[in-house]
Amino acid sequence: MKRTRGTYETFIRPLLFSLDPETAHRFTIELLRVASRFDPALRLLRSCQRPSKPKTLFDLTFPNPIGLAAGLDKNGVALPAWAALGFGFIEIGTVTAKAQPGNPEPRIFRLPKQQALINRLGFNNDGADAIAERLRKLRESGRWPTVPVGINIGKSKVTPLEQAADDYLYSLRLLHDFADYITLNVSSPNTPGLRDLQEPQKLVELLRAINNESGVATKPVLIKISPDLSLIELEAILNVCAENRVAGVVATNTTVDHSSIPPALDEQGGLSGAPLREKASTLVREIVAKSAIPVIASGGIYDAESAREKFQAGAQLIQLYTGLVYRGPRLLREIVKEL
Ligand SMILES: Cc1cc2nc3c(=O)[nH]c(=O)nc-3n(C[C@H](O)[C@H](O)[C@H](O)COP(=O)(O)O)c2cc1C
Repeated sequence: MKRTRGTYETFIRPLLFSLDPETAHRFTIELLRVASRFDPALRLLRSCQRPSKPKTLFDLTFPNPIGLAAGLDKNGVALPAWAALGFGFIEIGTVTAKAQPGNPEPRIFRLPKQQALINRLGFNNDGADAIAERLRKLRESGRWPTVPVGINIGKSKVTPLEQAADDYLYSLRLLHDFADYITLNVSSPNTPGLRDLQEPQKLVELLRAINNESGVATKPVLIKISPDLSLIELEAILNVCAENRVAGVVATNTTVDHSSIPPALDEQGGLSGAPLREKASTLVREIVAKSAIPVIASGGIYDAESAREKFQAGAQLIQLYTGLVYRGPRLLREIVKEL
């Protein structure tokens, strides 16, 4: 299908792409953070919203099924702006128990020809204490968004894998009150050992610790999985989910399979965007074929067609990241229109 270019692709993207990826990201987040404080700015962002396409899941009402994927607003600084732009839900994080700087820069790489990104950020974030305080202030200000907010939690780099559950629990205790749902990130490729938490025994341990925590049991707990799992690994995870009250699966995180990337452009890290599309859709189909667990799909959604593919695969909700970098907020409207 032929696509027309909007203001973002014609004017804003060239400006942003003249900056290095992380500076462009910081600049955008800063603009949205400031916009989040001013009603006229929020009204302006709201002016191009599409009519709603409501959806109910986890006993929550989503004005539309298109969400902001984790990682874009790691610190939860611009919730009102994301809602004003028309997202049906917002997932902030990954938040870790301890504030941490992440890996050395450069650590985000654009691959425009492939409509892809590679990142090895390594959970740079302000930490659970600071983020909880920020969310508390936002709630007190009366600007809390009306769309569901998910909080994505991960393990601090310095915490040994054996103590992972305590690390997740620390963040959860501080943040669960602000979350409509919680996503346990056990699939980022940029924190050494993190993906080992997808192993059944370790996953059971983590989920038991979470489910034993009072107050948390009332919130839907989801897990975010890697696209690089084998079928056998996936089946084992789905069994663990069924036995441990996991409300949903976010499929998928970035991939370490870089076979579609020319070696000269390759970098270490997680690959996202168009090259991930098929792999993520296949995993969604496999989950839906094997289990009744609801799926939030993420991976390579960059137009209405690739969004439709995820819904046809059986996803209940979808999330955007790399597609937004290349297509801007118009992508959201384009998808909602076609639903
Ligand atoms: C720069 C960047 C940072 C990300 N950070 C996180 C993160 O902190 N936590 C997480 O669960 N996923 C993170 N992701 C993964 C995205 O949420 C998403 O699952 C993945 O990129 C696939 O979707 P996409 O192809 O639409 O980008 C990140 C992705 C990118 C590109």
